[in-house]
Amino acid sequence: MVQKILMICLGNICRSPIAETVMTDVLVKLNLQSVVVDSAAIGPWHVGKRADPRALSTLKNHDLKNTHIVRQITKQDFNEFDYIFGMDEENMSELRRLAPNGSKAELLLLGDFGLSKENRIIEDPYYERGDEGFEVAYQQCVVACKAFAEQRLQK
Ligand code: 4NP
Repeated sequence: MVQKILMICLGNICRSPIAETVMTDVLVKLNLQSVVVDSAAIGPWHVGKRADPRALSTLKNHDLKNTHIVRQITKQDFNEFDYIFGMDEENMSELRRLAPNGSKAELLLLGDFGLSKENRIIEDPYYERGDEGFEVAYQQCVVACKAFAEQRLQK
């Protein structure tokens, strides 16, 4: 059975493309390629664009590549995906607000897997000047995606 994971953040140009790429890499390494991963935005601002250059360069530093084109989350996503991950509490409240009644997807905070309570929010690095926040988000995603895959997908 194919399982589907959707990574969400506000703009779909910084954190969720990183999370999507990291989760895909983790799944390849665990030989769980029957799981499909996508990402999307809460907001419409960057639809049609590629990820922020700083997200792409952070991934490149770790030999990873992302070619995703930004899209906004739809009502249908809540019934198509098994797991929808938010990066922070604002994402989670938006997801809960947008979810149609009785929809299939489980709404989860990514950092609730593998990260400590103090470090579980994947902060938005968009307004920072440099790449540092992107590397922090990447490292959080590596820990959280591995923990989720091991706890919930690998059986
Ligand atoms: P992201 O970061 O949610 O990690 O993709 C953001 C990118 C753009 C904006 C906000 C957050 N924005 O307002 O344009």
